[in-house]
Amino acid sequence: MKLILAPLRGHTDFVFRNTLLRHFSGLDACCAPFITTVKGKTVRDSHIRDVLPKYNKVRCVIPQIISKDPDEFIVLANRLHALGYGTVNWNLGCPYPMVVSKKRGAGMLPHPEIISDFLAAVIPNVTCAIDVKMRLGKDDPVESAGVLAVLNDFPIQNVIIHPRTAKQMYEGTVDLDSFERCLPISRHPVVYNGDITDVKSFKIIANRFRTIDTFMIGRGVLMNPSLAEQVKGITPSSSKKYSERLYRFHEDLVRGYQEFGSDEEPLLGRLKQLWCFLSFSLLRPEETLRKIQRANTLDDYWAEVESAFETLDGKTAHR
Ligand SMILES: Cc1cc2nc3c(=O)[nH]c(=O)nc-3n(C[C@H](O)[C@H](O)[C@H](O)COP(=O)(O)O)c2cc1C
Repeated sequence: MKLILAPLRGHTDFVFRNTLLRHFSGLDACCAPFITTVKGKTVRDSHIRDVLPKYNKVRCVIPQIISKDPDEFIVLANRLHALGYGTVNWNLGCPYPMVVSKKRGAGMLPHPEIISDFLAAVIPNVTCAIDVKMRLGKDDPVESAGVLAVLNDFPIQNVIIHPRTAKQMYEGTVDLDSFERCLPISRHPVVYNGDITDVKSFKIIANRFRTIDTFMIGRGVLMNPSLAEQVKGITPSSSKKYSERLYRFHEDLVRGYQEFGSDEEPLLGRLKQLWCFLSFSLLRPEETLRKIQRANTLDDYWAEVESAFETLDGKTAHR
C-alpha cells in the first residue's frame, strides 16, 4: 500500500515537505502544489522554485501543473523531466471559480473533448509519465464517466480522484457511491483522495475499495503529521512521545521558513493557517487556535505555542 501527500497550495511547499519527511515516516511520495504554465519556450527557475532539485528529494516529489494550453504544458513538463522528475501530475480538480470559469482545473471536467484534444497534443511530446488528479465533476458527478472514458484512450499512469464536485468545494461528504462507479470505467490505476483524517476513516475507505492500493492524504496530514505512519502501523523509531515529536517538527518548520526568507508578517499568516489544521493534534483545538490566532508578533506566537504544549503534559489527540 502506498500513501502520497496531497498538494495543498499555501501549506505543502518544499520547506513543509522536507520537514515532514525528516520527522515522520509512512509517506511514499509528495505531490507538490500546482504550478501554472507560462508563455514562451523558457521557464524561469524562480517560477518553479518549489520543485528545484536543490530544495527537494526529487525521487519523492511529483510536481503538478495546471494548464489548458498544450504547448505551454509541454514546455513545463519537459523542463521538470529534465530536472529529474519522472512523473508530472495534471490538475483537473481545482474548484476555485476564477480557475473553473477559465476552463482550467475542474472547469475542464464537463468538456471531455477538450481534455482529449489536450492529451492528444501533449502525450506524444512529453518525455515524462503523466498522472491526472481530478474531481468527480464541475457541477455533476456523472461528468467523471466521460472524462475517464477519454483518459482511457491515453497512457496515463495514475488517475487520482477526489470524490466531490467543484461546486461542493470542500463542503458535505465525499461521494463514495459515485467514486465506486468510476472504478470499472477506468483502465488506469485509480488513487483515492479525500477526507482520510484518521486510521478509522482510512479503514472505512480501504475496506470498501479493496482494489485500491494507493491513497492520497492532504488535510489529515496537516491535522496529524504522524497520520501516514499510523495508517501503515509503523512504530516510530524514536521513543519520544508524539507531543515531543510534534513540537520538534513545528520548531524545525518555523526555522525552515525563516531560513528561506519568510518575513515576520507573512510567516505569522501562514503559521496561523497551518494551525487551523495542526490544532487538531492537541487536546483543545479550538482554544489553542483562538489563542494562536490572536498573536501579533512571532514572540507572542511562540508564547502561545509553548503554553499549548506545556499544558499537554505529553498528551495529545493522537497518542
Ligand atoms: C488549502 C488547500 C490547497 C490545495 N491546493 C491544491 C493544489 O495545489 N493542487 C491540487 O490538486 N489540489 C489542491 N487541493 C486539494 C487537495 O489536494 C485534496 O484533493 C483535497 O484537500 C482533498 O483531500 P484531503 O481531504 O485528504 O485533504 C488543495 C486543498 C486545500 C484545502
